[in-house]
Amino acid sequence: MIITSALVYFLAFSQGLATPLANPQEADLAGRPSKPKCSKPAKRLPWQALSRKEKKAYIDAELCLMRKPSKLNLPGAITRFDDLIKPHQIMARETHQTGYFLPFHRYLMHTHETVLRTECGYKGHQPYWAEELDIDNIQNSDVLDSVTGFGGGVLDTLACVPNGPFKNYKLHTGPGQKNTENCIERRLSNIATLTARQEYIDYCYQFNTFEDAWPCLEDGGPHNAWHAGVGGVMLDPISSPGDPLFYLHHTWLDKVWWDWQKQKPERLRDITGRKVSINPFFDLLSNLPGNSTITDFFMGNIPGLPSIPGGGPFSENNRGPPTFQPRNETIADPVKLTDTLTVFGLIPNTTVSQVMNIKDGILCYEYVDYEDAI
Ligand SMILES: *[C@@H]1O[C@H](CO)[C@@H](O)[C@H](O)[C@H]1NC(C)=O
Ligand SMILES: *[C@@H]1O[C@H](CO)[C@@H](O)[C@H](O)[C@H]1NC(C)=O
Ligand SMILES: *[C@@H]1O[C@H](CO)[C@@H](O)[C@H](O)[C@H]1NC(C)=O
Repeated sequence: MIITSALVYFLAFSQGLATPLANPQEADLAGRPSKPKCSKPAKRLPWQALSRKEKKAYIDAELCLMRKPSKLNLPGAITRFDDLIKPHQIMARETHQTGYFLPFHRYLMHTHETVLRTECGYKGHQPYWAEELDIDNIQNSDVLDSVTGFGGGVLDTLACVPNGPFKNYKLHTGPGQKNTENCIERRLSNIATLTARQEYIDYCYQFNTFEDAWPCLEDGGPHNAWHAGVGGVMLDPISSPGDPLFYLHHTWLDKVWWDWQKQKPERLRDITGRKVSINPFFDLLSNLPGNSTITDFFMGNIPGLPSIPGGGPFSENNRGPPTFQPRNETIADPVKLTDTLTVFGLIPNTTVSQVMNIKDGILCYEYVDYEDAI
């Protein structure tokens, strides 16, 4: 494995080691077994199990990112929080409906956690949203608490976040590929949350290969459920990291992928898929007619635009069983373990193989289930 010295330093930092390099030979000479690289995995906990103090520390760190100036100098980025939206926005076509989707988002969650820790003094780890607790009742979620959480939203109505710590934040990135000043909008939807239920996850888990399990997780219900359930900025497939809830949702999805991966060792190396999405909506969403919104698009409210297969994320079909079918397509040049992943220097570039195992490569964490965390 070839790693740059910057990456070695970064690893040492993220794992809290006193020295950048633990020398395995030294350990052998002292007669002790050499230390495994990820001997003390960080615990990623559900938000709903955090103490009030832990919740405040995370939100304070996010607010710190929102106050710090951008360092990437990409168009539309004013704050450091905006910098984190940029890789997702600019590379939307490469990182959605492609083999990079799950590895890239895992790496992006790790990037967010790292930047909170290194630039905003956050001592905790990246929490996730235990979504199973809030299905069909999202408006009462502990996550959306106006005092201890991320603020709420209005059921079935598109509106700026009405309360909580992010009420006054002005986004400078999005919607889509545009960069306009906007509040963080939400539009809570319970019908959309239904495809995060266990029946949908189990349906995806029956698939044995990444080729089939990944599109099921991405497009077959679990991933879309919370993007549409929170709605507004979160419904934007390009600029959704504009709502800090993005990181709680995608960390949950990362856990869902990991819970599938850990069942069989070969799944830690199983990767494929196209490298660039062929879905025309990446163009459509940045050029919607009149003053129609991304919400209008996904609700099928824009005359003349193609309808969404399955009726879109707000369909009554969500009450019924999953209907995802594997694509069964041949891809000429599929994603490989050796392919590079980048977040434009927010943290060093890496490769897909480095993020396939959450306790190896550049990563060292584990997930704690809600029942075990309370
Ligand atoms: C924009 O929205 C307003 C209010 O919803 C509506 O009255 C108007 O017709 C819309 N304009 C266009 C060009 O769609
Ligand atoms: C998948 O595609 C191949 C080639 O196009 C075809 O022969 C095969 O029957 C398909 N399998 C399924 C399950 O649809
Ligand atoms: C990181 O990867 C990107 C995409 O492959 C590449 O353009 C860039 O030069 C890389 N940066 C470094 C520092 O290697």
